[in-house]
Amino acid sequence: MINSEERYRQAFAHIAEIKRILCATEYALKDQRPATVLVTSAAPGEGKSLFVAALATAAAQSGKYRVAALDLNWDRPALHRFFNLALTHSEKALCAAELSALVCPSGQESLDILTAPGDYADCFKGDTQAGAVTARLIGQARTAYDVVIIDSAAIFPASEMMIDPVMLSGLADGVVMVVLTAATPRQQIRRAQKIMESSGASILGVISNQRKLSAP
Ligand SMILES: Nc1ncnc2c1ncn2[C@@H]1O[C@H](COP(=O)(O)OP(=O)(O)OP(=O)(O)O)[C@@H](O)[C@H]1O
Ligand SMILES: [Mg+2]
Repeated sequence: MINSEERYRQAFAHIAEIKRILCATEYALKDQRPATVLVTSAAPGEGKSLFVAALATAAAQSGKYRVAALDLNWDRPALHRFFNLALTHSEKALCAAELSALVCPSGQESLDILTAPGDYADCFKGDTQAGAVTARLIGQARTAYDVVIIDSAAIFPASEMMIDPVMLSGLADGVVMVVLTAATPRQQIRRAQKIMESSGASILGVISNQRKLSAP
C-alpha cells in the first residue's frame, strides 16, 4: 500500500518546479560528477526530506545519473517514509559496514536510499562517532554514484544529538536551503545563511516551500 508521504514524493518529482530546480542545480554545479548536494533549513519541519526525496527521484528519472539519497538526520529520520522503507539498520551497522551493504533500492530505477539507524536515540551516549562515520559514508557514495543528495537536520536549534549540517556542508559541493514560506522568521533565515557562509559552504540556492500550514 502506498503511504501519503510516498504519494507526495511521486507527485512532487513530476512537477515542473522540481525539474527546474534540478536544471538549476546541474548548472550551479557545472555538471560536475560526482556532485554532492546537502539540503538543510533554518528550522525543523520546513520540508527538507520531502524535497530531497522528490529531487532524488527527478534526478534518477532524468536517466543521466546513478543517484543516492542519504538520510543523515539521524535524530529525526524521515527519508525512509517517502520510499516506504523501514529503519532496519542499527547505528553499529552503519558505523561498521560499507555503504554498498547498507543502501536500499528505492523502487525507482537508478536511485538508492541510505536510511538512518533505527536505534540512534537509544544508543546515543554523547560521544557519538557520527561525524566520522557520515564522512566515510559520503566518501563511499561519491565513489559509487554520480549524484549524492543529503537530507540533514535543521541548523536551529543546535543539539548534541544532531549530525551538524554545518559540518556536513564541508563534505558537500553545494548547499540548498529549504524555507517554509511565511513561517520561518526572516531573521532566523539570515542567521542560518550567515552560519553556512562563514563556514565556507557554497549555497546554491533557496527553495521556497509554499505549503499551507492550515491545509490537512
Ligand atoms: N509543500 C508541501 N505540501 C504538502 N506537504 C508537505 C509539503 N512540504 C512538507 N510537507 C509535509 O510536511 C511534513 C514535514 O516535511 P519534512 O519531513 O519534509 O520536513 P523536514 O524539514 O525534513 O523536517 P525535519 O526538520 O524534522 O527533518 C511531512 O509530512 C511532509 O510530507
Ligand atoms: Mg527531515
